[in-house]
Amino acid sequence: MEERTPLIAGNWKMYKTGNEAVETAEKLLELVSDVETTDIMIAPTFTSLALVSKVIGNSNIALGAQNIYWEKEGAFTGEISGPMLVSAGCQYVIIGHSERRQYFGETNNTVNKKIFAATKSGLIPIVCVGETAAERNEEKTFSVLDKQIEKGLEGLTLDEHQSIVLAYEPVWAIGTGKTATPDQVQEVHFYLRDLIEKRFGNMLAKTIRILYGGSVKPDNVSELMALPDIDGALVGGASLQPDSFSKIINF
Ligand code: 13P
Repeated sequence: MEERTPLIAGNWKMYKTGNEAVETAEKLLELVSDVETTDIMIAPTFTSLALVSKVIGNSNIALGAQNIYWEKEGAFTGEISGPMLVSAGCQYVIIGHSERRQYFGETNNTVNKKIFAATKSGLIPIVCVGETAAERNEEKTFSVLDKQIEKGLEGLTLDEHQSIVLAYEPVWAIGTGKTATPDQVQEVHFYLRDLIEKRFGNMLAKTIRILYGGSVKPDNVSELMALPDIDGALVGGASLQPDSFSKIINF
């Protein structure tokens, strides 16, 4: 890895009530308080953000949201804006997760709007890309990724990009216990970095962090983190327990 600081991010999805989220954050904080060389982020549900923010304060754990809407405010029932996330203590926001694309109609176009909204609010977007099993079987992995990057990042300038994180999450590896092989992960991460270089130049390609997500566990994280183009992990299931998540953070 170049001089990129690893980022281990926990996506808690729609798990944990406020009390449970607070308890998990408290335990995690105890377990990882001495970690200095890896960035850590947890993304609880919206209703737990402000509560968890109080627990982690200015510690080495950063807070992230799982979604954002692109307007600042207005009559948009059920949506949450960038400034609202910032005021709840967020530094990161996950955008375009495959579950949002699959179940909630998220497209490369809405992903693009959300990335603009996030960077405008000072949030670091973690932009998720990845192919389904059918797309991989049909050898469409790279064309799918091309489109997700091209449309998703359309119109962004280099400055904005410098505070963007990409997450490669093959849909077939999410929550299935089926991790992509190190060769598959490295191949895609190298390809994504190359795409970034072609579109935005060498500087950004060298500095942008590309996370892997999909059944990351304590027993496979070190193998993944040893790969040259893997700069961290976006963890679902194994981030819900402080014990397993702290082991991943200490890869
Ligand atoms: P799992 O780690 O449960 O496979 O989930 C990955 C993920 O979707 C993280 O965003």
